[in-house]
Amino acid sequence: MISTITTEDYQSFRKFLEDACGIVLGDNKQYLVTSRLTKLISDNEIDSFSTLMQRMKADGKLRNRIMDAMTTNETSWFRDIYPFDIFKEKLLPELIKTQPRTIRIWSAACSTGQEPYSLSMMVQEYLQSKPGSLSTNAVQIIGTDISPSVLAVAKSGVYEGVAVSRGLPQERKARFFRETGAGWEVSVDIKKRVSFRELNLMQNYTLLGRFDIIYCRNVLIYFSTELKRDILARMAKCLNPGGFLVLGGSESITNYSNEFDLIRWRNGVIYQLKP
Ligand SMILES: C[S@@+](CC[C@H](N)C(=O)[O-])C[C@H]1O[C@@H](n2cnc3c(N)ncnc32)[C@H](O)[C@@H]1O
Repeated sequence: MISTITTEDYQSFRKFLEDACGIVLGDNKQYLVTSRLTKLISDNEIDSFSTLMQRMKADGKLRNRIMDAMTTNETSWFRDIYPFDIFKEKLLPELIKTQPRTIRIWSAACSTGQEPYSLSMMVQEYLQSKPGSLSTNAVQIIGTDISPSVLAVAKSGVYEGVAVSRGLPQERKARFFRETGAGWEVSVDIKKRVSFRELNLMQNYTLLGRFDIIYCRNVLIYFSTELKRDILARMAKCLNPGGFLVLGGSESITNYSNEFDLIRWRNGVIYQLKP
């Protein structure tokens, strides 16, 4: 158990974290660092924060575990509802009309997969309400995250206890999941249009290809102004003409990008790449 972090070590740690994954720690967040790293420190039998700082210099695996422990992975099914309603009621029907090819969606920083799977459930419901309106493989959803541990859960598609219930109506749980010995598993119909990949948003996106919609929610808040600008500029380049960007409820492009038009729909907003 670590009791203190010297000012010098804290400054070095902040720099490491921002350089490695963009997360900016406030001035006095030593308690957060201590609480997030307690298990890792005891697993590795490390006796002081200075020792941890020394060890991580030469140990890439330890650095990755530290990044993993410092990310906030909070998520839920149909989080905030609005982004899923607008998808099913506006974006998907519009794209079906205008795009003769596969519709591609990127869920950037998808955590344990609830966001991309919720989108896939929306596609499934759309298909059921309008049979024949699009082929079953007409939509491709890619979920990415920096954290291998959350991606392992996302790929398995198996959720236990609280994780399966948060935001998930009973009726959708019955329709889209089956109970297994390990928990509740997302059905094959939902899984088949979703794939996952490890990706640090600070790195290159070009290998992912182009998208019609990017969901990038509840992650930009952790980054510096410069990094927000850089990420939004690079995401704009990944969108097909007229592509859409959906941010989290407390996030906006104001001050960070002028490459998007604001789309108002019902009581919220999303963004569309300017022509
Ligand atoms: C709060 S969760 C958001 C999950 C989902 N988008 C949502 O809104 O429910 C933030 C996610 O961002 C990921 N993350 C943090 N820094 C990242 C980076 N530099 N590159 C990619 N993902 C990152 C974390 O691992 C975490 O899973």
